[in-house]
Amino acid sequence: MSISETQVGIIGAGPAGLVLSHLLARAGIEAVVLETRSREYVEHRVRAGVLEQSTIDLLDELSLSARLRAEGLIHRGILIGLEGRRYRIPLSELTSGRAITIYGQQELVKDLIAARLAAGGDIEFEVEAVELSGLETQRPTIRYHQRGHPHELHCDFVAGCDGSHGVSRRSIPPGVLRVYERRYPFAWLGILAAVAPSTDELIYARHERGFALHSVRSPTISRLYIQVDPGTALADWPDDRLWQELQLRLGTNDGWTLADGPVLEKSIALHHSFVVEPMQHGRLFLAGDAAHIVPPTGAKGLNLAVADVRMLARAIGHWYRGRQTEELERYSERCLNRIWRVQEFSSWLTGLLHRLPGMDPFDDRIARARLEWVCRSEAEALSLAENYVCLPFEYSDQISKNIVS
Ligand code: FAD
Ligand code: DHB
Repeated sequence: MSISETQVGIIGAGPAGLVLSHLLARAGIEAVVLETRSREYVEHRVRAGVLEQSTIDLLDELSLSARLRAEGLIHRGILIGLEGRRYRIPLSELTSGRAITIYGQQELVKDLIAARLAAGGDIEFEVEAVELSGLETQRPTIRYHQRGHPHELHCDFVAGCDGSHGVSRRSIPPGVLRVYERRYPFAWLGILAAVAPSTDELIYARHERGFALHSVRSPTISRLYIQVDPGTALADWPDDRLWQELQLRLGTNDGWTLADGPVLEKSIALHHSFVVEPMQHGRLFLAGDAAHIVPPTGAKGLNLAVADVRMLARAIGHWYRGRQTEELERYSERCLNRIWRVQEFSSWLTGLLHRLPGMDPFDDRIARARLEWVCRSEAEALSLAENYVCLPFEYSDQISKNIVS
């Protein structure tokens, strides 16, 4: 058995765990990241693509954005498809020049790992049987196996950044957490395809056959999604059928066509909203998907994970400077303010853009009228733009300015 010590034990090398390890290193705090998967696996897991302005600002601040700045695509607007028409929401015009950057999550993960290892950081891949104990004490322990050998890591804090199926949340005793949850009656089938995007800006389309999204990754790679039944299997969607359906749902009255190409990756993601409160138990702090999931329509999950760890690093830094716990005690409440804002936005946008099979025709007409209003009214478009690109990190502090008593 090998026994080691660190200040913060981070479970999970996804965006949350890796950004946290960088933030802590900048503050002179030592951390070890433990990851069940191999480096190769986490660097190739295809997921998110939209980084909001606050995420980019933080990566700039940490000097982690060189490749992202060179290869990421800056988008200043998004397109909404409805009944054969396209509307544009001018994100930057509405938000004093802020924008989103398209950069694959796996590319960001590669950059974060390379920079941490180059700086001498400790990321342990392919760890197994991770087990947390002593969370209510001042010195929690993480036990795990790696290449058959047992290890024990003693730390001051544990950061549970291990996603929705990780061990951290499950290590909290029953009765401590309150769970809020909603399952949506549809999923997204997503593909990565080796074909130049047929659009300059993301297209979110509401169609009577269901939602479709045309996103991009590079001048030669497209990312596309369609709404499918949650019980659908990938085998139900051979490439020809998928391209035809995408053309139908994304199509316009003026004959726009979608270029197709070889499909490089295909996967199905269920839609789920989930929040646990509080995001802390003793010396364990949950961050990112370990504490909350949003449906992907608002493109917020990764961005929320980054916002959580920024708050967590600040609270941990505060503790090391003066052994004062007040920032740690406020961590959960401050994150949850933003999380519920994002849950509301993501569920609103999901409802606006998706159509349920067998939907009541009256409800369907109302939903279409609502979406058209978002596209035509500046006030509605502004609200969408504000939420989509630029929730400030200090969201909790900002709203408090409007509280008068
Ligand atoms: P994860 O990325 O899940 O990382 C957790 C890590 O912990 C993983 O590497 C996992 O292997 C590891 N782990 C698990 N269990 C253990 C254990 N017991 N011990 C050690 N390690 C463990 N978000 C956006 O912001 N923008 C988007 O455009 C967007 N699009 C999306 C599209 C799709 C199809 C999907 C599925 C998601 C999308 N998201 C988007 C969401 C985003 O991908 C997630 O919210 C993000 O990955 C959360 O990061 P995380 O670090 O919290 O968790
Ligand atoms: C992408 C993912 C999303 O969830 C979204 O809302 C927009 C774009 C993407 O993978 O590019």
